[in-house]
Amino acid sequence: MDDHLDSEAAQTMDRKVQHIEIVAKRRTQYVGKTTLFECVEVLPKGGALESSDVTLNTEYLSKGIDAPIAISGMTGGHDALFKINKNIGEAARRLNIPMGVGSQRAMIENPRLAYTYDVKKATGSNDMLLIGNIGASKLVVYENERISKALEAISADAIAVHTNPGQESVQPEGDIDFRGAYERICELAKGIDEPVILKEVGNGISKDVAMRFRNKIYAIDVQGAGGTTWIGIETYRSKSKEGLVFWDWGIQTALSTIEVLSAFNGPVISSGGIRSSTDILKGIALGAQLCSMAEPVLKAELHNGAKGVYDYIEALEEGLRSRMAELGFSNVDELRKARVLIREPLASILRQRRVKLNPMHRSVYGRA
Ligand SMILES: Cc1cc2nc3c(=O)[nH]c(=O)nc-3n(C[C@H](O)[C@H](O)[C@H](O)COP(=O)(O)O)c2cc1C
Repeated sequence: MDDHLDSEAAQTMDRKVQHIEIVAKRRTQYVGKTTLFECVEVLPKGGALESSDVTLNTEYLSKGIDAPIAISGMTGGHDALFKINKNIGEAARRLNIPMGVGSQRAMIENPRLAYTYDVKKATGSNDMLLIGNIGASKLVVYENERISKALEAISADAIAVHTNPGQESVQPEGDIDFRGAYERICELAKGIDEPVILKEVGNGISKDVAMRFRNKIYAIDVQGAGGTTWIGIETYRSKSKEGLVFWDWGIQTALSTIEVLSAFNGPVISSGGIRSSTDILKGIALGAQLCSMAEPVLKAELHNGAKGVYDYIEALEEGLRSRMAELGFSNVDELRKARVLIREPLASILRQRRVKLNPMHRSVYGRA
């Protein structure tokens, strides 16, 4: 560890390593809650196709990408973590899909660590889409210029600002003061060149929050409940076991996706607990621009480096192509306009929440 670092910067570095170790070795997933994708059924368009007739390419951040899949921001900020970002980046470059890095707080506190996030340089690719990352509670104390510099240092194409009150409330060093975060996110979006994406970390985003960001930011990455629980991860790091009580807290991913789509007018990423090609099929059919994943990608990297990540995502793409072919969707735009049946309990939760389905999706409510 760098001798000159103040204790806060050193803590940030150590924490990033601990997170990876916990995700690698412990149970970090929701226990009693699912994503609710099991309540979503995509109705056939009719006329089965061959998988080879199906194309997955789509657009994000004004760029063509090869599949409606992204890798959520996870890491960077410690010498030991550079290799993980580089390997994930190598796979993302070959697959031509977007990739996020973890919170850039560590490199803002210690610029020597910028290289651990600089995936474009590490993989020799200027073409790939790279998403920077910062916490909303930190954004309040960093002015736009510092954020711009951090993005420029790694040639990021956009920034994801993560809001994570659940995680911060359990994290031993957590900062639960989010006052002014909304105003700062809007100010950032106005003041920097790169598009701003609002992102949770696994507790989901509601329609009320999404509504406030209409016309203010580029995209919302819902990161709903049902996959990795950050309240759970921080519970392992905390002396207090209070986090056990709300391990499963959060808005489930299918619900959060529909809520955000009903209220927000930019691209929506369906994420949090995406684990199969069927989950991706359903997220896109609900109207999401992309689906994105974190934990399984990290596990694939830890298992077999860049090849592990590449093979894992290639298999998901193959599965998605097969599902789309069986249902008669030849491309992602058609899938986004699919008719979707929503079963219980999601159907009644949507009614209770007074969520209006986007007419674009021509979805119909159903009974189990
Ligand atoms: C090891 C690890 C580190 C993460 N670090 C960050 C981070 O620094 N910033 C962030 O916005 N999200 C971070 N996340 C959260 C993910 O981007 C994602 O929102 C969450 O894990 C839910 O997705 P999943 O169920 O596919 O894992 C991290 C996730 C993992 C697994």
